[in-house]
Amino acid sequence: MKNDLIVTIFGSTGDLTARKLLPALAKLYKQKTITQNVKVICLGRRDYDTETYLNEMQKLTSKSLDLPHLSKFVEYFKMQITDLTDYQKLNTYIRSISNEHSKHIYYLAIGPEILADVAKNISESKLIEFNNTNQVLVFEKPFGHNLESAVKVNQMLWNYFDEKQIYRIDHYLGKEMIQNLMTLRFANRIFEDTWDSKSIESVKIFVKEEEGILNRAGYYDTSGALKDMVQSHLLQILSLVAMDPPNLYESDYIKDEKVKVIRSLNIDKKSVLFGQYKGYLEELNIPKDSKTETFVYFRVFVNTPRFRGVPFEILTGKKLSQKESYVEISYHKTSEQEKWNLPLHSNKLRILINPKGAVDLSINSKMPGLKDNLEVVHLNFTTTPSVEGNIPEAYEKLLLDIVEGSRTLFTRWDEIEASWHFIDEIKKCPHSLFVYESEHELMEKIN
Ligand code: BG6
Repeated sequence: MKNDLIVTIFGSTGDLTARKLLPALAKLYKQKTITQNVKVICLGRRDYDTETYLNEMQKLTSKSLDLPHLSKFVEYFKMQITDLTDYQKLNTYIRSISNEHSKHIYYLAIGPEILADVAKNISESKLIEFNNTNQVLVFEKPFGHNLESAVKVNQMLWNYFDEKQIYRIDHYLGKEMIQNLMTLRFANRIFEDTWDSKSIESVKIFVKEEEGILNRAGYYDTSGALKDMVQSHLLQILSLVAMDPPNLYESDYIKDEKVKVIRSLNIDKKSVLFGQYKGYLEELNIPKDSKTETFVYFRVFVNTPRFRGVPFEILTGKKLSQKESYVEISYHKTSEQEKWNLPLHSNKLRILINPKGAVDLSINSKMPGLKDNLEVVHLNFTTTPSVEGNIPEAYEKLLLDIVEGSRTLFTRWDEIEASWHFIDEIKKCPHSLFVYESEHELMEKIN
């Protein structure tokens, strides 16, 4: 039978495939969100059959894989991803199981060192033909390690593929609360009218993790928190928080506004703090003299008419007290509040991204009773547990969007370019490396 959808995964024996891609595909298939006429081809050089492959994948993840469903559409295909003749064999096979309308997704879950070779082979073997938007390429960060290398990677991709055929994944964009940012801002009068420097005093974008680097020493030590988290996830959140409304709610219009934000960033050079958790140097395969940061904090200004003068605090790090990510908007006190001789708080809007989605607005209110006492009360909603079970994982949403050709949740090259430009600027700021044992020590240094 010919398949309507063929997803081919390069690097299919890795962590990402086991932990994220296979579970997401299984769920989309089981819920019939994607066609039942799908084939997922997992490439690897080991001598597996499909059953052995899936069993090996199960060993890589603590969650149980939906093997009954996966075995219906996954197929292991043995090949050397450096060998062009193997690509030609793959192409012959794919053609035999597809028709002229089939959608082809090539997912590169591979390291940056082989990206160029794989892209070239995909193009030369005609797995992807230039401009055919039914044949697309998906890949993940790192998109280079600085501006110069990112430009080279991108130029290389543009040699073979049209921008419309390239999907750059930032999995934070698939998270529910990040997708909700534009709705909260632009579909609510109370926020839309107050989303600027007249009302907002400061913004925090904090992404904290409790885990260390796990078993990713090789990648992490060459990256560090700034490139691993800020260049991608945190700058994406920042751009969604600070952007102006787009002329149309369509992918390119939204990106046009996001990129303006990233280009307008002005770092507060004196605020930059880099940290490394105690014990990092003892992690397996980390050089004993490594200076890689596992924590970064800085203040930045968004130099646009909307936000000029408002400090945005950016923080991310590993081995902190808990896994928690949020955006916190602090409002100015009202002019009337100044006249009151009472302890009044400024309103805060907290948008919780992890570990669950929630929105909390704190307001001042009179305490019930005969006295004029005030208290802070919270207007909030949380994704309730019954709904939570149904909340799609980021990768489900992103894979579905690729299948449907919806590009809003993927990054465009100019966003990446502007992000690297900014990251290279931060790298130049004078900073030392503070060795931390607890989040508390870091917070004391910041405040
Ligand atoms: C990845 C980073 O992009 O995001 C990891 O490479 C980090 O270092 C992870 O742990 C965090 O993602 P999430 O979805 O668990 O918050």
